Amino acid sequence: MSEYKIENHTYDVVVVGAGGAGLRATFGMAVKGLSTACITKVFPTRSHTVAAQGGMSAALGNMGPDKWQWHMYDTVKGSDWLGDQDAIEYMCREAIPAVIELEHQGVPFSRTEEGRIYQRPFGGMTTNYGEGIAQRTCAAADRTGHAILHTLYQQSLRHDAEFYIEHFATDLIMDEQGVCRGVLAWDLATGTLRVFRAQTVVLATGGYGRAYFSATSAHTCTGDGNGMVTRAGLPLQDMEFTQFHPTGIYGSGCLITEGVRGEGGYLTNSLGERFMERYAPNAKDLASRDVVSRSMTIEINEGRGVGPNKDHIHIHLEHLGAEVIHERLPGIAESAKIFAGVDVTKEPIPVLPTVHYNMGGIPTNYHGEVVTLKDGNPDSVVPGLMAIGECACVSVHGANRLGSNSLLDIVVFGRAAANRCAETLKAGASQPDLPKAGLEKALDRFKRIHNANGKTTTAEIRDNMQHAMQKHAAVFRTGDSLQEGVDKMNAIYASYNDVKVSDRGLIWNSDLMETFELANLLDCAQVSVQCALNRQESRGAHAREDFPERDDATWMKHSLAWVNEQGQVNIDYRPVHTYTLTDEVEYIAPKKRTY
Ligand code: FUM
Repeated sequence: MSEYKIENHTYDVVVVGAGGAGLRATFGMAVKGLSTACITKVFPTRSHTVAAQGGMSAALGNMGPDKWQWHMYDTVKGSDWLGDQDAIEYMCREAIPAVIELEHQGVPFSRTEEGRIYQRPFGGMTTNYGEGIAQRTCAAADRTGHAILHTLYQQSLRHDAEFYIEHFATDLIMDEQGVCRGVLAWDLATGTLRVFRAQTVVLATGGYGRAYFSATSAHTCTGDGNGMVTRAGLPLQDMEFTQFHPTGIYGSGCLITEGVRGEGGYLTNSLGERFMERYAPNAKDLASRDVVSRSMTIEINEGRGVGPNKDHIHIHLEHLGAEVIHERLPGIAESAKIFAGVDVTKEPIPVLPTVHYNMGGIPTNYHGEVVTLKDGNPDSVVPGLMAIGECACVSVHGANRLGSNSLLDIVVFGRAAANRCAETLKAGASQPDLPKAGLEKALDRFKRIHNANGKTTTAEIRDNMQHAMQKHAAVFRTGDSLQEGVDKMNAIYASYNDVKVSDRGLIWNSDLMETFELANLLDCAQVSVQCALNRQESRGAHAREDFPERDDATWMKHSLAWVNEQGQVNIDYRPVHTYTLTDEVEYIAPKKRTY
């Protein structure tokens, strides 16, 4: 390894990722007196949380009656009963103090006339167990993620957290007992390899939307933590569940917030019909996302799409008036102008369901501790390793996440991870030397990819993967199409053995970085498509045309999938938690899901 400059670092905690989850955990750990480093491949305020628009759910009741128990019911129903109810109870209950904390930390929320935090309706959020529409989503206009991310970064700077900015974490360093001891990262600016030793590594690396061709996710959403976990021999959970947001701008995929429908916007087809009235007679355009995305796809498939190719749908907000648009949805007006050439005060925006969120990820409990199936125990904790935010599967979203439960998830579980570390770690405790074999494995892999000298470019393999996923792991799936997807993905996965890195430099080498990212995306894509083929039912975002019904008797269980170096996937299951955390609420039994 003499060709590399290597530096060693020791902290109590190393957080990988500086989106909302990573930053909330980072400053939470620092506040508790733990020496904390945050490693991030982009400048913190460029993390994908910055793109979250509509808001963060919490049953504050600022706009009318609300209760966290109603929020819990909606989240369980939204998850199509795949969510773990202990974790959902925790999230919905903790939402209230978590949002008040954010307010006190400085998030500039929009306000009601009385000066309270403004809350808007969002899909699937109801009052009184489905009877009415709740206004539960706390908003800072349509730039809520931006506001939260900047506040959390400021809080992190206020405390003694250390940042390693524009550093790319490549692999976990595991010991022979399966304990996580640290992480290897590449400093993009200097080319130095940094070996971090920590009592706990917290993965907060976001989703893997870029496994698809069209996604609202940033180009940085490449499943880096998920890839590190599979290479550590640990499973990913529920990877067949990918959320398509109903309103990505046609052509660019740029997000048009659900907050548009929350403020009274609506969808129409080529006949000018408000077709959601047929699919969801009560909630209409504010049904949950999987329902709206499927309805839009059916309209298009049955020939009622708009545009010359009848291949998209319109969303209207002209009727809201310039004043409301200016106050509540200024960013949308700007995005629609830039990406669709549309003046939203006069014309509808062309939209299409677009990949937006990964419900699956690294399995954890509600403290953020990574769990695995070990010796028959499906809740066995992996020592030294945590995961939070979109890379994790707690599982609070189950088979379908409700809009605005994502900003909530990152804040609540970032905070939970910090609280857990404060309980379980001793600041400055001595740490054993890093395991030689685990460190060498990580360094050898770095060297192998750095020197990859095959014939296929990273861009070519990525393009093949993105098109295969877009076509075969879509809104609607069938066994035949998924099998074709699996066959294609097996070949695409194998083609990475022939990848070519054309630039051997170690400073700002985007080709090398994208090659590392591609390896992570390939693991995510490979597992997603195989788990989707395996799950022979329809549940939440996983809509099988050949198995159109939900099958609780056989399939109310989480998929766990391991992928080996050859790309072979091994699938097992763990039970859904059908118990609550406290006696204050009862288990919500499955029933038919209508809106
Ligand atoms: O539509 C939106 O504003 C997205 C919110 C979310 O995914 O939670």
